[in-house]
Amino acid sequence: MNSVPASKDIAQFLDYIGEQEKKSLLRFLTCGSVDDGKSTLIGRLLFETKMIFDDHFSALEKDSRRHGTTGEEVDLALLLDGLEAEREQGITIDVAYRFFTTDKRKFIVADTPGHEQYTRNMATGASTSDLAVLLVDARHGIVTQTRRHAFIVSLLGIRHVVLAVNKIDLVDFSQDRFNEIRNQFQSFAKDFGFRTVQAIPLSARFGHNVSEPSPKTPWYNGPSLLQHLETVDTSDDLTKLPFRMSVQWVNRPDLNFRGFSGTIASGTIRAGETVVVAKSGKTSKLARIVTYDGDLAEATAGDAVTLTLADEIDISRGDVLASVDARPEVTDQFAANLVWMHEDALLPGRAYLLKCGTKSVSATVSELKYKIDINSFEHLAAKELKLNEVAVVNVALAEPIAIDPYAENRETGAFILIDRFSNATVAAGMITHSLRRATNVHWQAIDITREAHASLKGQHPKVAWFTGLSGSGKSTIANIVEKKLHTLGRHTFLLDGDNIRHGLNKDLGFTDADRVENIRRVGEVAKLMTDAGLIVLVSFISPFRAERQMARELMGPGEFIEIFVDTPLAHCEARDVKGLYAKARAGKLKHFTGIDSPYEVPEAPELRLDTTTETSEESADRVVRLLLGLGDGEDWVI
Ligand code: ADX
Repeated sequence: MNSVPASKDIAQFLDYIGEQEKKSLLRFLTCGSVDDGKSTLIGRLLFETKMIFDDHFSALEKDSRRHGTTGEEVDLALLLDGLEAEREQGITIDVAYRFFTTDKRKFIVADTPGHEQYTRNMATGASTSDLAVLLVDARHGIVTQTRRHAFIVSLLGIRHVVLAVNKIDLVDFSQDRFNEIRNQFQSFAKDFGFRTVQAIPLSARFGHNVSEPSPKTPWYNGPSLLQHLETVDTSDDLTKLPFRMSVQWVNRPDLNFRGFSGTIASGTIRAGETVVVAKSGKTSKLARIVTYDGDLAEATAGDAVTLTLADEIDISRGDVLASVDARPEVTDQFAANLVWMHEDALLPGRAYLLKCGTKSVSATVSELKYKIDINSFEHLAAKELKLNEVAVVNVALAEPIAIDPYAENRETGAFILIDRFSNATVAAGMITHSLRRATNVHWQAIDITREAHASLKGQHPKVAWFTGLSGSGKSTIANIVEKKLHTLGRHTFLLDGDNIRHGLNKDLGFTDADRVENIRRVGEVAKLMTDAGLIVLVSFISPFRAERQMARELMGPGEFIEIFVDTPLAHCEARDVKGLYAKARAGKLKHFTGIDSPYEVPEAPELRLDTTTETSEESADRVVRLLLGLGDGEDWVI
């Protein structure tokens, strides 16, 4: 076993570092709870590989006597319990990574909390791991948590599992009990696609089968945990997959050099080989592989390189360079598994930013097919996906990107979703397969263009989007605006929430998810109406910024005018024309905007109408002026 050199001799230290660099690295994840002995196990691994310094160890001995639960023994769990304590205080710790090393290998262990509310943290830890150690207490055997952990681990593409049957001392080192647990695990995990499952009877507290085989389990012929970790072959590794590199930036210091920089996601590439730009299908020979330390003849997964090509072809940031004979798919729709990681639920139809490699593209979850109960693996119908939930979804992108199924490539098959307003990462996704439906539908060229429609009507199409609380006066003002425009000979149409909800949207209610879909459809309808040359007035509460933004982005520059009808809740409630506020207050109407459903105030509307200081007529006049592009003093003529 190797220890960190005590000597301060720099040369010796550099030797040590050099040695470390040569060893292979195994990244693994531990799953289980403190009660299963997870902290003790990690503590034991660090201790037995001499990753704990002497002074640290004496402090631990003292602490063990004071706080430990192990009598005269050193309580190794105390090494890690600081972390657990922080968790208990509600401090968010994503994943704790620890490093240790032996003569044979280097290890990075990702330690994530085991409870269901930490599923997202576990997914984060699992995404970079090659192996998972699933810890069970020999007395309790396979419990719901074990099933959940195995499921997440398999979902995140981990193919090597250790079933650590801990506390074997507490069941008298019983072979029968061990076999029972191992068989139970193998039968439920048989469809999880694990390539190796090594069950090991061990005691983290007393060190049985952790680094050395234990004399107490003569019936067990397998390796100790550490022996297994040192020798397990996880090299279905990235270097053997087809070449992929997502271009991070185009490096063009002068006219003579044009290189494409990035980290090789998978595969091996040699100078002289032909590569393809996945999306455009353009190919070229690889001229040079440039690095800080000079040119290379060959580079592999994980290397940060700048590639130059023999031909001048169009490549920009986010493009994927790939091997010609094993190309990624290029698609704008795919099916995926999604782990939701944010307090705000997933809303199908909402536009998020999807990041895959270095490519970012606008994306929506076009269909939430079903949620998976991560404890029972049952499929459940769902309209929303909440924090730590997992689902099978279809994703639609604003433009095609290059992808691989996650099962084939964990680099190019994984993506994250980002909230476009808060920039928070809201989900992690694993692509199962691309959907080809969209590729069979082509855009039909139509001769009478939107410009032709508009010019026949002698107007510029526009959307006046009225947003505000129920009863704020949106529809009243929009109605007056339409009458004025009509009198002026303009071609208009008014889309009103209450009316559209009787027809096109009669299948929708007032949950967040339904409101997102409500606005998505109305945005699309408004867009079609502008294509027909109309001035469209839209009067919907449209409570969410994201969907108002989405509607805005459907229209051309300057065509979308957001009008915030800014009537305070108290006023709307006092008017209560439809008696709905009274019902909502009485608890007879759920999800009522402003009462128990949110309204996100527009941050930069083109126009804000204060209905407490001006009449509906005055408000309507201001809207008409803005729509027709008239200055303050200017009058309109019929
Ligand atoms: S939106 O939020 O999805 O944009 P929309 O404008 O279509 O709402 O519909 C709002 C109208 O539906 C309100 O003016 C009101 O008459 C009626 N309504 C019924 N239930 C609710 C509710 N829970 N919240 C808001 N409005 C409701």
